[in-house]
Amino acid sequence: MTRSTIASFRAVSKHYGSHCALRDFNLELREGELLTLLGPSGCGKTTVLRLLAGLEIPDSGEIFLDGRTLAGVPPEARNVNTVFQSYALFPHLSVAENVAFGLRMKKLGSAEIRARTAEALRMVRLDGLGGHRPLQLSGGQQQRVALARALVNRPRVLLLDECLSALDYQLRREMQLELKGLQRQTGITFVFVTHDREEALSMSDRIAVMRTGRIEQLGPPRDIYERPANLFVAQFAGESNVLEATVTAITAPDSLIVELAGTPLTVRTDRRFRVGARLVLVLRPEDLHVHDDAAAEGGLAGHVLERTYRGVTLDTVIALDAGPRIKTSEFFREDTPALDHPPGQRVRVSWTPGWEIVLPHEPET
Ligand SMILES: Nc1ncnc2c1ncn2[C@@H]1O[C@H](COP(=O)(O)OP(=O)(O)O)[C@@H](O)[C@H]1O
Ligand SMILES: [Mg+2]
Repeated sequence: MTRSTIASFRAVSKHYGSHCALRDFNLELREGELLTLLGPSGCGKTTVLRLLAGLEIPDSGEIFLDGRTLAGVPPEARNVNTVFQSYALFPHLSVAENVAFGLRMKKLGSAEIRARTAEALRMVRLDGLGGHRPLQLSGGQQQRVALARALVNRPRVLLLDECLSALDYQLRREMQLELKGLQRQTGITFVFVTHDREEALSMSDRIAVMRTGRIEQLGPPRDIYERPANLFVAQFAGESNVLEATVTAITAPDSLIVELAGTPLTVRTDRRFRVGARLVLVLRPEDLHVHDDAAAEGGLAGHVLERTYRGVTLDTVIALDAGPRIKTSEFFREDTPALDHPPGQRVRVSWTPGWEIVLPHEPET
């Protein structure tokens, strides 16, 4: 499905004093998508939202909404609303008055205000609580009020800045599903900011992984996780075992033999490498299987350091003979009862050929 562009950043740069928060930033937002900005604290996520909302002005470059430049357009004239982590509710107003606030500012008729407020409260499943004060509500309910207060304006784009971070784990998982449902139901374009990769992977149509004011990769969650553009994205998107290796032979256009501290391994990749090039293999813990040393061939040999029962998975830390440590995370399966490998036991680690992620070696940053 191709969707039309609703907003775009073209070569936008933004400094705070001498600090460069965004440099030559480009992004096309698609109509009706849930796009997540994912990246470590300080990488510029909030700055992107503030620029789109009109709370900051770009130093250079231009931002467009619905094909029109936003240069010179004040925040209140942009059809964009933000939900903050802090909720920013008015404590002295009722829930309904909080939600209706934006519509009153726009001087809509009271019948319309009442209808739209009720609709927004229904959407976030707070019907019946309109007369309460925000502080009489739970954290999750306050979060919903903040959402209703934004949705009631029927924004073209809804910006959500780490808005679930204050909630505990269980509630957060529920709100993730609910937000995604609301986004589908309303068809409103959401730009969601988080530093939580699971949240990003489970909610997004597309993820933009950011580092120091730039997008490192933009794509659907599965591409980000399974085909990361570089080591930063690979590590930010999921737990990673990173093993350095050297190319010893090229056996087919998409197949290499590499040497990992003396152990030869065949790996598959679309990327081009020369013989002698250094590269890294990224192995996801859940892609790895642990075998008794004697029963298996291929893969990498080592011995068990630690074994941790985690309910859903059995996690093992293995010291490879090749040097590095590797973590595996095996799901329990009915057909193959998990073998118990106590610390000290010799084992082999294997994975489905081709599931390794092969990336160029890059200097430490
Ligand atoms: N008002 C400000 N004054 C000075 N520096 C700022 C200001 N706002 C943000 N920054 C800096 O800009 C960078 C990006 O900030 P921000 O967009 O808030 O990142 P994120 O939301 O990804 O954590 C950070 O290094 C931050 O310290
Ligand atoms: Mg931020």
